[in-house]
Formats: sequence, C-alpha cells, structure tokens
Amino acid sequence: MSDRVYFFDTTLRDGEQSPGATMNFQEKLRLAHQLGILGCDIIEAGFPASSAGDFSSVEAIAKQAGSSIQIAGLARCVASDIDRCWDAVKAAKNPRIHVFISTSPLHMEYKLKKSPDQVVEMAVAAVKRCTGYTSNVEFSCEDFSRSDKDFLCRIVGAAIAAGATTINLPDTVGYAQPEEFAALVDYVIKNTKGSEKVIYSVHCHDDLGQGVANTLAALRVGVRQAEVTLSGIGERAGNAALEEVVMALQVRKDFYGLEHGIKSEQLYPSCRLLSMIIGQPIPLNKAITGANAFAHESGIHQDGMLKNRETYEIMTPQSVGRKSTHLIIGKHSGRNAVHQKFESLGYSLNEEQLNSIFEAVKNLADRKKTIHDEDLMALVQQEIYRIPDRIRLRHVSVQSSDAGGVPPVAAVLMDVDGIEKSGAGFGAGPVDALFNVISDLCGRSPDLEQYAINAITGGTDALGEVTVRIREKGFSAIGRGTHPDIFVASARAYVDALNNLAKREEEGERIHCQLPA
Ligand code: KIV
Ligand code: ZN
Repeated sequence: MSDRVYFFDTTLRDGEQSPGATMNFQEKLRLAHQLGILGCDIIEAGFPASSAGDFSSVEAIAKQAGSSIQIAGLARCVASDIDRCWDAVKAAKNPRIHVFISTSPLHMEYKLKKSPDQVVEMAVAAVKRCTGYTSNVEFSCEDFSRSDKDFLCRIVGAAIAAGATTINLPDTVGYAQPEEFAALVDYVIKNTKGSEKVIYSVHCHDDLGQGVANTLAALRVGVRQAEVTLSGIGERAGNAALEEVVMALQVRKDFYGLEHGIKSEQLYPSCRLLSMIIGQPIPLNKAITGANAFAHESGIHQDGMLKNRETYEIMTPQSVGRKSTHLIIGKHSGRNAVHQKFESLGYSLNEEQLNSIFEAVKNLADRKKTIHDEDLMALVQQEIYRIPDRIRLRHVSVQSSDAGGVPPVAAVLMDVDGIEKSGAGFGAGPVDALFNVISDLCGRSPDLEQYAINAITGGTDALGEVTVRIREKGFSAIGRGTHPDIFVASARAYVDALNNLAKREEEGERIHCQLPA
C-alpha cells in the first residue's frame, strides 16, 4: 500500500454550508486558486445541482484548474444531479464526480424512504452513470459510522464493481470515536470485494470534537484520502481541519510514516485568506493558525524557550507559514519589494493588480508605521479580489458625542450607480449615524444582524477589521472593511455588505436541494 495521503479539500462545498460562510463567485475562484498553491490534490468545488450559482462557480473553478489538481463536484445518486455535475466539472483537466447516498438504517428509512436493496440499486446505477462520463468516480456512504457493517461491505463492493475508484466513508454526524471508527473502517476495507482496486477516504465531522482524531485513526488502518476543510469549517460544528491533519502527519511522521503533497508553509496564508473571505476571525487558541498557537506567556515557558526552543515548541511558526520575513514593507519600499513580499505570502499578482496594490500599500504606509503581513493580506483581499460594486464610498466624517442633546453625527459622500450622493444624519452612536446616512443615500433599510470589530495586528495603529451582516427581504449578506480608523472600516464594511446584498438579489435566491452534512 502506498504511503501517500491525498488531501481532498471540501471548504468550497461542505465548508460553504457552514452558517455565515457563504462566498461569492469571485471569492470562490480566489480560494480555489489558493488551494492549488497549498498543494491540495482534489478540490470539491461545490454541488452543481443545488443552485445556478453553485453550477457556475464549479464550472469556472474547473476551467481555471491546472493539470496537477482534480476538481470534484458533488451529486446525489440521481441522474439529473450527475448530469449537471458532469456539465460543471468536465472543463477541468482532471474532473471527478462524487456521488453519495445514505447507508444507515435511520437515514434509509426516514430520509430516503427506501429499502436497503433499493439503496444498493440506486448506488450502482449512479456509479455506472458517472462512469459513462469519467473513470474518476468517488462514492460516499452518508452516515457511514451509524450503518450496519455487513451492509456497508455489500454496498461498497457493489459500487466498486460498478466502477467507483474512491470510496469515502463519512462520519456525517460526528458521532464516532477514534478507536471504533478505525475498527469499522478496517472491517470494511478487509471484508469488501475489490478493496485493493480503490483508494479509501474518510470525511469526519466535528460534533464531538473528534473530526481530526477520527481522520488520523482511519489513516492508520489504510485510508489514503482525507476529506477536510480549511480551519475545519463545515456543516454544524464543522469538519476535520486540513491544517491540523497535515501538521499531525508532519510533526509525528515518526508515528504515522505517511507522505503528503501539502506545502505546510501555505497553511497560515490559506486559513487567513478564508477568514478574510468569510469574515470570521481565526480563534486565538486555534491549533496551528491561532494568534496564541506560538505565543509563550508564562515565565517558565519563556525561560525554557530561551534555553531551547524545543522545550515548548513542537513545530516552528515558519513551518506553517507564519514567518515574519526579513522584508519589511513600509513607506520607502519599492514596487519590486512589494511584489516579492506578496509572492512570499502566496499571492501572484499581475501587472495591473500590482499597480493598484502598490498604491494601496503606499497609502497605508502613510498612516501606519509598521505594516504586518496580516495588514497586507487584508489589503490584497480588499483591493484586488472583488467584483465591481454598485456603491462606492468616497469620504466619511464622523463626530462622536457624550453630551446629552447633542447626538453623534456622520456625513458621507458616495457614488450610487455612478451618481454622486452626499448626506448627513444622526444616530444613537457614530456607527449608527454612519449606517443611517449610508442606507438613506442608497434607499435601503436592511436589518443589522451582526457587527464585529477586530484589530488585525497589535498596537494602537492596528488595522481595524469590521464585519457586518445585514438582512433585507429574505436575503442576507456579509460585508468587510479594513482601515486604521474604525469608523471608516465600519462604513466600508457596511457598503460592502450592501453591495453583496445587491449581488445576492441579482443572482436570485439560492435553490437548495437537500444538502448533506
Ligand atoms: O458529511 C457527509 O456525509 C457529506 C458527504 C456528502 C460526503 O458531506
Ligand atoms: Zn459532510
């Protein structure tokens, strides 16, 4: 058996099903590009039959993908899903169709309302239909960990005989415990006809906090594909986190003895990009990528670190891409230095993008003495990877007040559909005043569902990152804005959310068919 573990990233499919993690077309393309740089073997780009938006982003990702990466689309064991999936992925150099069906008694009886025999029949028909399009077919037993072990061997054997080349065994509801999960996986591998012809995979949810542990336990018994997401985002409590599985294999190679193709120094830039896109900060104590993951606070630990780093550090920050490179970007940096810096952060910018980012870096350097990698990553996300907006903020001015009878006031100058508009108004606080003026100028009145502010880096001149979520007429959208002045960041975030809301309305409501975990 080969020692190579294949990483199948489903951030764009299962991850996007995480509450509040919806991404727009452009953002999905950008993330897919980064997943390629990270070295993922397979990207699950979406569920094409679930909506027109999903179809077009999967198709666009398939078109942009190079030959070193496989692009998968998800489909139920239904002919129309499979046909739609193939239409979306076929432009990829290496397309894959991923079909799934529930195999647990609970799901078969209540969700599918089918007998086990009917489920096997559907699985076989689906896999055969896929093989009419491609030989790269993945078959998943949804709710595997609560399924009967002999039924599993039967259906998996039938899927292999029908032409499946990857068999995925998901812990759909995050119910399994590592030893029993590994034992069930082992049983299926050993007792299924044709096992030697396929690659086994696992896809573990984190409802009991065992997603990574279950994935690693399965790798120990012969599984060679790990289905994971960046930062572990996904349905409910999420999926096994890619960066944690990778670093466990890398740091404990002595234990696992397995190889992989992930460039670990791209882990942090990838998770950071995701966090920027979905507007959810990485938790401080998150393994591998959290701000505290390499911070040593206690005196005893600091003393140990000074004497020998290995006393309290099992991996270097550099190995996961958290290097502070020697290239310091500031007021005097030239275009070339800025270019190189972005390359080192994993962004390859074309001439036009470099010109606009260089300008933005210079503007930031005028206001901020120390520019951190995180500031630069926030800038690139804001300046480069966005679709043309209907609303453009030009200037804001805010006056706070703690005097009764003199409410905070905000004035705004902006373009709405190319027409310059300006106005001023009051609010309960300065941010409220800003949002009131902006929504009046745009003729909208969305509900503000969430407002969060986060300092991207330390210090009083840190770049403030504001995330807002708004809702109007059944559509909701997230917006982000960054600026050293938190009121400007707030206004930018609000305008971004309004633009995203407009795009969402244009795309039309997402037609969800039954999405798996
Ligand atoms: O959790 C699950 O079972 C899934 C499958 C579609 C792989 O997401
Ligand atoms: Zn899932």
